[in-house]
Amino acid sequence: MPHPAIIKDNVAVITGGASGIGLAAAMAFARAGMKVCIADVDQGRLAEAATKLSSVAPATNVMTFAVDVSKAESVAELERAVRERFGGTDVLMNNAGIQPGSTLFGERDNWQRIIGVNMWGVINGSRIFATSMIARGRAGLVINTGSKQGITTPPGDPAYNVSKAGVKAFTEALQHELRHTKDCRISAHLLIPGFVFTGLTAKGRTEKPAGAWTPEQTVDFMIARLEAGDFYILCPDNDVPRALDEKRMLWAAGDIIENRPPLSR
Ligand code: NAI
Repeated sequence: MPHPAIIKDNVAVITGGASGIGLAAAMAFARAGMKVCIADVDQGRLAEAATKLSSVAPATNVMTFAVDVSKAESVAELERAVRERFGGTDVLMNNAGIQPGSTLFGERDNWQRIIGVNMWGVINGSRIFATSMIARGRAGLVINTGSKQGITTPPGDPAYNVSKAGVKAFTEALQHELRHTKDCRISAHLLIPGFVFTGLTAKGRTEKPAGAWTPEQTVDFMIARLEAGDFYILCPDNDVPRALDEKRMLWAAGDIIENRPPLSR
């Protein structure tokens, strides 16, 4: 049974839709007969992605939009443009993300950019689209792409961890709110990919490393879990539960912070 929101003629908007997981989702939604808007900051990639989409969908079902998800005005323009072109949104995937690397005491601008795109991007998208999606009155989905790093917060890249921990907390709050909104048939979901071979993770590699998933595998899994009604869509190559247990043990043993200064008395 297809998910009631992922059906022919419904409208899907995917941020970060010009490549990787976002483009794979757009292709899958387009194959299901949905109207698809891919929104991305990279206009060159958007044009290439539109060409790929045109191999599985009529041009009338495809829209591209240049957006910077870290800016609320830009996301509001996207929402308006989709409403004008397709009448509204049924599925919103807040998926745009960056991982340039960060250090705890490194550049503040870098922290702001990472949190701006990864966390504010999700908050902007959810807040701006949810109102009009609720008013539309149909079954709908908000899918936010988190990361296991937002749950296990491993050492290294603290700004990315913080941004993705924010995505988790925000999506939980959103789902709570939607469940308590009268007559609302929209649900929120947190996608937690494993290691997916995309531009974000390739780091110069041209071959998919053993054990990595393709974006298409990730999206097939996501759609199956959406149909099953899962809130946390935890990709199975993921070691989140084990990592959390290990982390709890490390905290308990006091080992998680190396070279801890002595406690002040
Ligand atoms: P990707 O680099 O192929 O796709 C990310 C897209 O976001 C790009 O097309 C990029 O242009 C776009 N983008 C960047 N900044 C933007 C902005 N300000 N506004 C609009 N679009 C913007 O990477 P991938 O792997 O497909 O990433 C998708 C999501 O999945 C990200 O949120 C990432 O953090 C998350 N993720 C990926 C994992 C992986 O192993 N690839 C693992 C866990 C999470």
